[in-house]
Amino acid sequence: MSKTSPAWTVAEVETDRSWTYRLSDAESAELLAAVRAAGDPNRPILDWKRDDFALAKSAPVLAAAFREVRDGRGMALVKNLPRAGVTPAEFRLMTWAIGLHFGVARPQNRASDYITEVKDAGHAYRSPTGRGYNSKAELDFHVDGSDVVLLSCFNQAPVGGMSMCASAATAFEVVKAERPDYAQALTTDYTFSRNGEQSEGEEPWYAAPVCTTRDDRVFCKWNRNRVQNAQKIEGVPQLSSLQREAMEYFDLVLRRPENMFCMHLEPGDLQILCNQTMLHSRTSFEDHADEAQKRTLYRLWLARPDSRRLPDSWAVFYGTAEPGTVRGGMKGHHYDDVRRNFDTRQAKAVGMKAA
Ligand SMILES: [Fe+2]
Repeated sequence: MSKTSPAWTVAEVETDRSWTYRLSDAESAELLAAVRAAGDPNRPILDWKRDDFALAKSAPVLAAAFREVRDGRGMALVKNLPRAGVTPAEFRLMTWAIGLHFGVARPQNRASDYITEVKDAGHAYRSPTGRGYNSKAELDFHVDGSDVVLLSCFNQAPVGGMSMCASAATAFEVVKAERPDYAQALTTDYTFSRNGEQSEGEEPWYAAPVCTTRDDRVFCKWNRNRVQNAQKIEGVPQLSSLQREAMEYFDLVLRRPENMFCMHLEPGDLQILCNQTMLHSRTSFEDHADEAQKRTLYRLWLARPDSRRLPDSWAVFYGTAEPGTVRGGMKGHHYDDVRRNFDTRQAKAVGMKAA
């Protein structure tokens, strides 16, 4: 097996594609059979239990992909999820079933949703409460708010909507070599807006460095939209000009062709990314006119049983820096007993400590 690292260049991930996995037709068929055998795919998502889905054949390939995300390059692509003849509800439930086997899903937004449909709903990305997943805008490089993010592709856009990934460790090393003053600035606190998604008891913003090195790993917390939105909130410390220049430089380094890896997610693809070492983005897109053909992906945020300890400064957003705990996500405005019970039940099912 080749030596892999979260610090990669485009040339390296293009030469060695061992981060791409493919379910065999038999594994793919089993996944679909498991979802269909479970029952009505439109049942409330939090009703489902891990044991409702008998994943056997497909589990080793999926487990290998999750290992790559944790210990290898921080990204994995699993191809050949069943798609032909599969309904959106079945595809969504399949994504959820994979999540039930590999961690504890986390809420992602103000509505406290545990799985979201990534589809253009005409929302504005650049607004104080804007989120990218309901828009068709080009997105900045960013990390999501959980240990790992799963994105399963049901339909792709006819034009654009390309997915981009970049290694935070590689970009940070480049900044260190070229502009040590900027690299230093990136290790100081930046303020991130919660974009109005804060739950009771949470401040509307929090502070964390963009880059933190811990146990020789670079942990990156970056989301330009949220940093810019925070600057408009009263009481938030203003960024210094050095901090501003440093973030501009970091983004430029991420977008250099040798650092920014581009891929088109195809129907039946599942992308899994580590949100501590890997930044992601996507290009703008044009969509189909027909609703049934529109670009559709399902997004799942997971806390993982084998997650690493986080830098202490991450605890304010993740709830805790402890490894292997149910952490991360945005509890949002509807974190109720149903959600709380799901978290407890699912943590037990995968052997994780509740936060
Ligand atoms: Fe994202």
